[in-house]
Amino acid sequence: MAASTILLKWNWINQMETKLLTANDIETAAAVLRDGGLLGIPTETVYGLGADGLNPDAVRRIFEAKGRPQDNPLILHIPDVSWLERYCHDIPPAACLLAEKFWPGPLTMILPRREIVPDAVACGLETVGIRCPNHPVFLAILRALDRPVAAPSGNRSGRPSPTCARHMLEDMDGRVEAIVDGGPCGVGVESTIIDLTAPVPRLLRPGGLPLEALEEVLGEIAVDKAVVSPLADGEKPRAPGMKYRHYAPRAPVTVLTGPGDRTARYIREKMGDHTGVICFDEYAGQFPGGTVETIGASGDAAAQARRVFDALRAFDRTDVTAIFAQCPGDGGLGLAVANRLKKAAGFQVVELGEGEA
Ligand code: TXA
Ligand code: MG
Repeated sequence: MAASTILLKWNWINQMETKLLTANDIETAAAVLRDGGLLGIPTETVYGLGADGLNPDAVRRIFEAKGRPQDNPLILHIPDVSWLERYCHDIPPAACLLAEKFWPGPLTMILPRREIVPDAVACGLETVGIRCPNHPVFLAILRALDRPVAAPSGNRSGRPSPTCARHMLEDMDGRVEAIVDGGPCGVGVESTIIDLTAPVPRLLRPGGLPLEALEEVLGEIAVDKAVVSPLADGEKPRAPGMKYRHYAPRAPVTVLTGPGDRTARYIREKMGDHTGVICFDEYAGQFPGGTVETIGASGDAAAQARRVFDALRAFDRTDVTAIFAQCPGDGGLGLAVANRLKKAAGFQVVELGEGEA
């Protein structure tokens, strides 16, 4: 690439003035998308980086702004279940059941896509991830735009997902036309992704809707290997995004599973100067000299989900050189919290016994 082209790109990415919009600016927000622009959008899970989902040029800009690998497809957001047929075909009864029960909400379904869904969204796959978000601002924008919105999480690739407008601005200032401030996200981790194109429905990413809730409706669900363990070299996950290092602060993270008193003791033994600790509220006083981020009571996975990305992000504003994290058990939202912590740690996990934290 010629030097002048590189310079132009640099200017485009960094010198745009990012406007901050409020929840009342629905028409302005929709106009940004209609004009092919990029918009930071609040959802109930995390902030998204949205573009008009039927405009391939706009969608391509998402990849540039995030620094996202080209093989990592995007989720298409719709305002209600009646739009499902427009973008998907061969929709199984299970999808209708799930939509009826859990939409709008933190559930993404993988279904066969229709041709109207641009390649830029699906990255060459025959399927598309589709979800109806449960956030009044996003729903109002979708209705005003009257088109679906493609949106990954609004972080720069590899960083923890943003759960408030300030985090989104931290990553995207100068790279997007506008960000709508809709307050902090109520769920805090991304949507649960279920693949309904396989003979047995398969959980590709644990998220804001607990696996148990899906099992109640569907019965047996296979859990993709990438959810709980690292992939071997060259192994392909079914959700392309699960293969990338993600959510990671600059300092390396080690995750401790097992009873809380044991994991706390382990951390105290390993602590040195500049140590960061992610712990449950009850243990906050046990790490003198450490930089401590609490993520909620050990029994409160919903609070942990709301806090986990904020905690991971906070360490980048400190001088810590190593981070230890207490990890919840796999029940309910704990599975999603544990997955995000383990991914942030590159699956560097020390198991200190069975049982809930
Ligand atoms: O809560 C959420 O889902 C947020 C908000 C903004 O809606 N979005 C989000 O998007 O987390 P993103 O791009 O950060 O994560 C989407 C994940 C990626 O791992 C991607 O590989 C996977 O979904 N994915 C998307 N389309 C897929 C498809 N057709 N088949 C399999 N995996 C897919
Ligand atoms: Mg993401």
